[in-house]
Amino acid sequence: MQQGLLTFAEHSAEQVNALLDLAADFKADPYKYRQALAGKSIVGLFEKPSLRTRVSFDIGINKLGGHFLYLDCQDGQLSGRETLEDIGANLGCWADGIVARVFKHQTLIELGKGNDVPVVNALCDLYHPCQGLADYLTLKQAFGDLKGLKVAYIGDGNNVTHSLMILGAILGVHVTAVCPKGYEPHAPTVAKAVALAAESGVTISVTDDINALQDMDVLYTDTWISMGDNTKFEQIEQTFMPYQLTMDLFKQTGAKYVLHCQPAHREQEITSELMDSPYSLLLQQAENRMHAQNAILIDLFK
Ligand code: CP
Ligand code: NVA
Repeated sequence: MQQGLLTFAEHSAEQVNALLDLAADFKADPYKYRQALAGKSIVGLFEKPSLRTRVSFDIGINKLGGHFLYLDCQDGQLSGRETLEDIGANLGCWADGIVARVFKHQTLIELGKGNDVPVVNALCDLYHPCQGLADYLTLKQAFGDLKGLKVAYIGDGNNVTHSLMILGAILGVHVTAVCPKGYEPHAPTVAKAVALAAESGVTISVTDDINALQDMDVLYTDTWISMGDNTKFEQIEQTFMPYQLTMDLFKQTGAKYVLHCQPAHREQEITSELMDSPYSLLLQQAENRMHAQNAILIDLFK
């Protein structure tokens, strides 16, 4: 299979920094890249809903001169008729690349088995790498330099947490995940990030102590209930409410900016007061999704 983008865990700091530079260059002068995907067709296979990912890939690929075909798989139309490998093999007959938002990470691997086109992870149970790259592009633009920054992720340990940790470890950013007991990030993925952090000299840590946060640069949160999880809000409300991002918490930690991948649930994981404040980088993150993804695509098809 041609190299796609599933996790970033195998990327070097040089490779990720080159993507961040490319994303910034695309953002500054998109016209320069208007032929980068000329004649290329990318299939977007989505097993889950999306606003930002779907629209930013579609418009972004259009700006690169390519064609995006959205394939809605949200009510399981494709499952049961043939194997994932056969679906991938057929898509490979026409498409030059596959962007896929799936429930299981393994689905991305299966989709890539029967073809030699790159598969890009548009979110799975374990990772959200396109989000992570956009997040670090946003932080680089806000702070100038990423090295040594201190990021606290607060809330449910999930796919967004994992990508924040993996990319942070590669880029030399300290990442602390502050999650209620029982909602910590996936231990093997944290171990992978810790191993990467040993090379870059930063700390990747997990705690449930929300009061331990001091001297932070950035607070980050995400939904407390991810797509595909049928838990009712009332069932987790009491456990998670102490982890809500409020203006008071933000001020206590000394952070300069707040991030959220969105969709955001106002007055749940973040208050409107903080989300709509001048400290919020949420819309910059959303805008940067397109620039980061276009850098990934330009690099894959260069
Ligand atoms: N952040 C993000 O991936 O948003 P969507 O679910 O709307 O694509
Ligand atoms: N953790 C969230 C991210 C949404 C962009 C989810 O998987 O639903």
